[in-house]
Amino acid sequence: MKIFCLGLLVFPLTHGVLGAYNLVQEYSGQSFFEGWDFYGAYDNTTLGDVFFVTEQTATTLHLAYVNSAGNAIIRVDNTTSVPSNQKRNSVYISTATYFPIGSVFIIDLSHIPYGCSVWPAFWTKGADWPTDGEIDIIETVNLVNNNQYALHTGYNGCVATNVGQTGTLANANCTSTATSDVGCTFQETQANSVGSGFNSAGGGVYATQFDVSGVYIWFWSRANIPSSISSSTTSVNTSSWGSPSAAFPATDSCDISKFVAPQQLVLDITLCGSWAGLASVYQETCPVNGTAGLNTCYDNNVIDNGTPAYAEAYFEISYVKVFSLNETSTSTSSSTSSSGSASTLSSTSTSGSPTSSSSASTTSTTKASGAIPIVQLRSTAAGVFAAMLTLSLIF
Ligand SMILES: *[C@@H]1O[C@H](CO)[C@@H](O)[C@H](O)[C@H]1NC(C)=O
Ligand SMILES: *[C@@H]1O[C@H](CO)[C@@H](O)[C@H](O)[C@H]1NC(C)=O
Ligand SMILES: *[C@@H]1O[C@H](CO)[C@@H](O)[C@H](O)[C@H]1NC(C)=O
Ligand SMILES: *[C@@H]1O[C@H](CO)[C@@H](O)[C@H](O)[C@H]1NC(C)=O
Ligand SMILES: *[C@@H]1O[C@H](CO)[C@@H](O)[C@H](O)[C@H]1NC(C)=O
Ligand SMILES: *[C@@H]1O[C@H](CO)[C@@H](O)[C@H](O)[C@H]1NC(C)=O
Repeated sequence: MKIFCLGLLVFPLTHGVLGAYNLVQEYSGQSFFEGWDFYGAYDNTTLGDVFFVTEQTATTLHLAYVNSAGNAIIRVDNTTSVPSNQKRNSVYISTATYFPIGSVFIIDLSHIPYGCSVWPAFWTKGADWPTDGEIDIIETVNLVNNNQYALHTGYNGCVATNVGQTGTLANANCTSTATSDVGCTFQETQANSVGSGFNSAGGGVYATQFDVSGVYIWFWSRANIPSSISSSTTSVNTSSWGSPSAAFPATDSCDISKFVAPQQLVLDITLCGSWAGLASVYQETCPVNGTAGLNTCYDNNVIDNGTPAYAEAYFEISYVKVFSLNETSTSTSSSTSSSGSASTLSSTSTSGSPTSSSSASTTSTTKASGAIPIVQLRSTAAGVFAAMLTLSLIF
């Protein structure tokens, strides 16, 4: 086991000692969408140019379904001509269940959405944002080729440092405040973590350990998935996975048990909005037709039939599995086990109100430029109202 040095503290990267996690929830096959709630409202948190449809609409329009291979598809509408000033339909789903500390989330996908204006994410959040925390597992914008991982905390005290993770530290401060919501971030360094590369490689697996010792995220392209996961399974043992891509270990000032409350899982695809749609961010990977401005992302992509038709703007998911560390499986000292994690599982389930918390997912490190996403203000009256509300919350 590696020993990492953090200031005067010397402690092991303890994701390895907690032993096996047991399968408690699997979303896959024909029943994939059981247990998820559809947003059914404008994107009023990240200000994207989409309407997140209801389950009924998603089913009717074929935006959320299980394909012939038995995989779940979640997609942006690419069959409707969208008039200027209107939004395009897309999907945002979140689990009704909030999973407690002492959980491992594994997602196996063969396709991650990409394209100019496209901003997909697989992430988790607590009931009260940002107080209850947010973990961004898969997140990318436009034609960016490397996944970004993030932790957002409402409480102050978590600061990401280099602790032996393989990803590149990009932003250190995890605290989300009224004026800053970047979160602490790591960039994936392995090839094919998102975008066309991920899809051509046959996809891959992301695994997240949400533990009292910290939050750790691993990525494997299809060819590198550990056999213990691909052959799995009803239990996983994170200690054999090696160094994670992103590591947010608990410290004296960063109490993960307090800062990251039980988390619901979220899958969504928005367009433009407060990260992908920022002119400065958009131009980094996408061509600009005309003069770059606030509406470039929207005007160049979202309207009419969509450019280039959003044919790649879909998730294809084999499964999402949730594993839990509980009394039966805890193999080490009780001081490091998340006591009570199993018992809180059912009590933290909710009746399913995924829209009850505000969640500006993440923004880029360019947020400080003052590029307030006025891009949204061209939208409908309801959208403007939501945007103003959100802007007043965020800025
Ligand atoms: C998990 O794996 C580690 C290292 O391979 C091993 O030492 C430990 O006993 C395993 N724990 C369980 C509960 O299987
Ligand atoms: C621990 O997980 C296993 C596997 O899901 C389950 O059978 C067992 O009942 C759980 N124990 C507790 C105390 O929840
Ligand atoms: C992190 O950000 C918060 C909120 O802006 C600030 O209060 C705190 O001092 C920052 N921490 C560090 C280590 O810079
Ligand atoms: C650029 O925009 C103009 C109209 O604004 C349009 O006629 C033209 O086809 C666009 N060119 C490209 C390459 O998208
Ligand atoms: C929409 O996307 C699918 C693939 O996701 C593609 O097969 C189809 O041709 C696209 N439709 C249009 C109208 O471009
Ligand atoms: C977003 O819209 C939903 C549904 O109308 C609402 O419940 C929620 O409070 C809104 N959130 C924000 C931040 O405006």
